[in-house]
Amino acid sequence: MPKAARVTGWGKYLPSRVVTNHELEDTLDTTDEWIRTRTGIKERRLAASHETTSSMATMAASQALASAGMEPQDLDLVLVATCTPEHLLPASASVVQNALGARRAAAFDLNAACSGFVYALATAYQFIAAGNFENILVVGSEIYSRILNWKDRSTSILFGDGAGAVLLQAQDGEPGLLSFILGSDGSRANLLYVPGPAGATEAGRNGFYLSMKGAEVFKFAVKAMCQASRKAVEAANLSLSDIELVIPHQANYRISQAAAHSLGIPLERFFSNVERYGNTSSASIPIALCEALEEGRVRPGDHLLMVGFGGGLSWGALVWKW
Ligand code: UT7
Repeated sequence: MPKAARVTGWGKYLPSRVVTNHELEDTLDTTDEWIRTRTGIKERRLAASHETTSSMATMAASQALASAGMEPQDLDLVLVATCTPEHLLPASASVVQNALGARRAAAFDLNAACSGFVYALATAYQFIAAGNFENILVVGSEIYSRILNWKDRSTSILFGDGAGAVLLQAQDGEPGLLSFILGSDGSRANLLYVPGPAGATEAGRNGFYLSMKGAEVFKFAVKAMCQASRKAVEAANLSLSDIELVIPHQANYRISQAAAHSLGIPLERFFSNVERYGNTSSASIPIALCEALEEGRVRPGDHLLMVGFGGGLSWGALVWKW
């Protein structure tokens, strides 16, 4: 009989430096009004020069452990979802494992771009359900400020840095994860990509900067969110009206608005903090989950729908009974 798992701890880390839209007006041909009306973003956090993906992940992970009252040496696995690691190797998860003192834990990174946290939570759950592991830290951490071309107004206004973490523990009783849907369409990888140091001659010319065809990604995002959400809810034997709270990837408030409209879920049930942090990629869902919990918006027994989309192209949705 597969074991059930619950989220018993959570934490987040946002760098202290706030960069407002008005500040970006000084260096880019943009306006606060354009950014707010097209994206919902008012400000974002940017990491200080000494901060890294794994230092932010460690802060969020420490908070998650403390909130559950768990010692790092009891962890079986540290899983970090990121596409902005500070090293190609070692994995950020190994750096976090060492910083935490999680001596017994295995560690690896998972890259599914902005869908990373949904992929990672579904992956971690399998280790528990199969009876292999009991205590797993699942972290999303990103430092996009280091892969943005700060002269490109079409991308640099959108993203921010940060990390979020949950502690997943094996427990008897009802499962937390009711269903998940993961998908990928590699034929459209060119819509959103960052060259890497191991491959591209192009990178030598242009730097390792993010390129995106925004309008096409927008259309994909709405469609992917709706399709994945419908499938995940159906696989959980629920209907969309049973979902108390949607925790969507925070990329653009208009994407959530369009998805809410198309799914027929009231927009008030879509959690949003994109106005304060911008798009923090695989960190956005765990940060949003933490804030939803802090604000008392999640009650025991609630059905949460977490849904992500992004580079790959990739998408993922899961239904979680809290
Ligand atoms: O995690 C997943 C990652 N990515 C996303 O989710 C992004 C999805 N896409 C989007 O959020 C939107 O497509 C954007 C916010 C990126 C762009 O909004 P849009 O309404 O699709 O604008 P657009 O790209 O069609 O551009 C409209 C106009 C263009 O000018 P012209 O050609 O109409 O004269 C752009 O040059 O807006 C211009 N523009 C800007 N103007 C002021 C583009 N960026 C800016 C800017 N400030 N920052």
